[in-house]
Amino acid sequence: MKAHFVLLPGDGIGPEVVAEATVILNAVARRFGHDFSYTEHLMGGCAIDATGDPLPSATLDACRNADAVILGAVGGPRWSDPDAATRPEVGLLGLRKALGLYANLRPVRTYDVLVDASPLRREIVDGTDILFVRELTGGIYFGGSTISDDGRTVADHMRYTVEEIERIVRLAAQAARGRSGRLTSVDKANVLEVSRLWRRTTERVMRDEFPDVGLESILVDAMAMHLLSRPRDFDVVVTGNLFGDILTDEASMLPGSLGLLPSASLGDGAVGVYEPIHGSAPDIAGRGTANPLGMILSTAMALQHSLGLEAEAAAIEAAVHQVLANGVRTADIAGSGTSVDTVAMGAAVAAAI
Ligand code: IPM
Ligand code: MG
Repeated sequence: MKAHFVLLPGDGIGPEVVAEATVILNAVARRFGHDFSYTEHLMGGCAIDATGDPLPSATLDACRNADAVILGAVGGPRWSDPDAATRPEVGLLGLRKALGLYANLRPVRTYDVLVDASPLRREIVDGTDILFVRELTGGIYFGGSTISDDGRTVADHMRYTVEEIERIVRLAAQAARGRSGRLTSVDKANVLEVSRLWRRTTERVMRDEFPDVGLESILVDAMAMHLLSRPRDFDVVVTGNLFGDILTDEASMLPGSLGLLPSASLGDGAVGVYEPIHGSAPDIAGRGTANPLGMILSTAMALQHSLGLEAEAAAIEAAVHQVLANGVRTADIAGSGTSVDTVAMGAAVAAAI
């Protein structure tokens, strides 16, 4: 198969992990006889520096015409002045919105061989396998802000429409059907009007369209606790944009490192964006020590969701398992043991493919 990937390395450790994404895609192309090509574009802080715009139109056009978009990370202290005219994150949010990527899939699995890298006890986390489905183009991220004339009162609006809730719940329920048949919806319905709409809509969609899938609604504060006390009880979890952002960072501690978690951002169109859930990690950028596995597992999601290459995606996941079983570790998951750098981890996974 011929496929074209747009690469958006972005800022901080983004370029370091995206380089390993191409190493892995090239290994897959060699083994399975595909023809993968790449073009790199600016997005985030690097795009602000070069053009003044965190999402230049040339980047957006390229993404629209790609088979899949591979994204590293955006942001950093250089661009975090609260009074700046724009920010790197504006580029990322603009990209998600422009491509209609309303569904962000964030699988969180523990690896048997890595369980001791988790700050939580083995008997709690072992066997965790959760698929978070985070709504990505609505909620408080996109409800707009109001600032009073004197600048002393500010509001960010959390806003959801019935249609936005229905489509993400349907997608999550479909996913639950293909897994254990259980869906957990997370909201704050005891306080927020938006959450009460979320809960009513979710319950109706599930009753009318997915009677075969079990539904449990949980308040977000309780969910934050249950994730650490009984993570194995959850299968597919659907929630809004902000709660999904926070809960998935928390959940990354179940396998042991934010650096391990991939994500896929999908919509009704053909193009998906695939990015690790970690940020630009300015504290370790440029040192070659970042864990590329979240990015590498995101390429597997790209092959599966955008190209339909199931065997190829499985080969990447199997290679990651094998490398971890062989004891290869980047610093974030090495504990007091020895670690390899970003390039060596990528090379090990490529060799296993
Ligand atoms: C994420 C990130 C982004 C988000 C930031 C960088 C805008 O934290 O993808 O989880 O909040 O969505
Ligand atoms: Mg986040």
